[in-house]
Amino acid sequence: MDLKKEIKRRRTFAIISHPDAGKTTLTEKLLLYGGAIQTAGAVKSNKIKKTTTSDFMEIENQRGISVATSVMAFDFNDIRVNILDTPGHKDFAEDTYRTLTAVDSVILVIDCVKGVEEQTRKLMEVCRMRHTPVMIFINKLDREGIHPYDLLDELEKELKIAVCPYTWPIGMGRQFKGVYNLYNTEVNIYAPEKNYVADSLLKTKDINHPELKSFIGEESLKVLWDEIEFIKNMFESFNIDLYRDGYVAPLFFGSALNNFGVLELLETFLQIAPCPGEITASERVVNPYEEQLTGFVFKIHANLDPNHRDRIAFMRICSGKFERNKFYFHTRAEKKMRFSSPTSFMANNKNIVDEAFPGDVVGLYDADTFKIGDTLSEGEMIHFKGVPSFSPEILREVVNRDPFKTKQLEKGVRQLTDEGVAQLFLQQPGNRKIIGTVGELQYEVIKFRLEHEYGAKCTFSQLPFVKASWLTTDDKKALDDFMLRKSSAVAFDKEDNPVFFAESEWMLRTVKEAFPTITFHSTSDFKLGKK
Ligand code: G4P
Repeated sequence: MDLKKEIKRRRTFAIISHPDAGKTTLTEKLLLYGGAIQTAGAVKSNKIKKTTTSDFMEIENQRGISVATSVMAFDFNDIRVNILDTPGHKDFAEDTYRTLTAVDSVILVIDCVKGVEEQTRKLMEVCRMRHTPVMIFINKLDREGIHPYDLLDELEKELKIAVCPYTWPIGMGRQFKGVYNLYNTEVNIYAPEKNYVADSLLKTKDINHPELKSFIGEESLKVLWDEIEFIKNMFESFNIDLYRDGYVAPLFFGSALNNFGVLELLETFLQIAPCPGEITASERVVNPYEEQLTGFVFKIHANLDPNHRDRIAFMRICSGKFERNKFYFHTRAEKKMRFSSPTSFMANNKNIVDEAFPGDVVGLYDADTFKIGDTLSEGEMIHFKGVPSFSPEILREVVNRDPFKTKQLEKGVRQLTDEGVAQLFLQQPGNRKIIGTVGELQYEVIKFRLEHEYGAKCTFSQLPFVKASWLTTDDKKALDDFMLRKSSAVAFDKEDNPVFFAESEWMLRTVKEAFPTITFHSTSDFKLGKK
């Protein structure tokens, strides 16, 4: 198969949003348009329930579901669309961040009633950091929300990205009738349809179309033309290069639930979103068209069922062609591996794949060889950048509740943290184990899994810290001095990098001022420079 052709027809992206903005609904509608599912509900019926319950069944359910929906691929007009799922619950933020390292672009969903919310801000920060191209879908226009003019303002201010309206809503709330595409100058009038996708009621470029008035009403039509005039005067026309470099986000309005504006979004996405491009590794820039395979693991899923201890490592292919049963080189373990049943994911179905291409994600079954960030190649020593750990905001000490199972506990904690479930820090003296996460629920998951998979019992004791920062410096003396003076608040990560735990943002600032030659990092990206 022609590698070049396969790469050019791939679009790998993630839909991101604050919980409840409509990510699942939009995903479903895209799958419906793509013919990957037949009625709405397939993703949703399995949907991760948004609750902070610590019920174990709940956790198991969530984990099972997130494997099923980890990657949803479908073909639309001969384009292979790979949607990578980003767990929306705030307890899974770390996973969400890391998924963003495996995509070529994102669609950000905003609820027009709520505007920009906390998680959106955080996710957008990661996109900005990586210059990921972003399209924005303003959802729920069937509700009375913030006026689109005000939303434009809010988006630019809060998300710190220039926006460029690509479609414009015709009315809002109960008066919401459809969208106007500013680029092909087409009006699309819709009828609400929750479970299926249907053609629009009217599609026309003729602004004097006789039916237009009857659908929209004379007054609303006048408002629409005024608004469009205003938008055209206010905004530069859409520039695809600025979008692809992550400086401008084209903006779409609609209602995912009712099918308004989703097709406009999908069609434009297929036209403008980038296909897999170059990815920077520590050693060099990797071009997707290179013949030799490279790829990295961005997510690992363990099976909670003790009878099936296998894990799935999700690998994004960066270059070359992946083939089943071929030997590849695991660059960290420095060993050859081959995979007899690599899995691809089409909507809710898992299939064994014989080959896969850059932009694709394959699920690799393994006992415990993989860690987040591991790289496969065809022999080259290469490590991909940008699978950082983010600074954990909750830190707790592991307390062993069964001294006869100390070894099992050690092993379990190491393996679970290798999966990226949480981060492990060791503090001396006494080899105290401190686990850092970005969400409370992870502690329940870890405790449960330690008990059921490793037979070890533990509890967690609260620590007074709110943030961990990695430390680097050229001034060894200053670092030694710092480590001595702050010994109760410093520890080492698994690769022996020093880490400082702050009790408050204020304290972090004070310490930074007192030790100006030490750099405090909030992601582990700095490690890549050390290789
Ligand atoms: P999420 O994945 O981002 O968390 O959001 P999700 O799609 O689950 O949507 C959250 C809620 O918002 C759902 O309602 C969904 O039906 C609703 N919703 C999504 N798109 C629209 C829209 O365009 N207009 C309106 N009015 N609502 C929308 P729910 O009551 O929480 O769930 P359900 O009972 O409908 O499943």
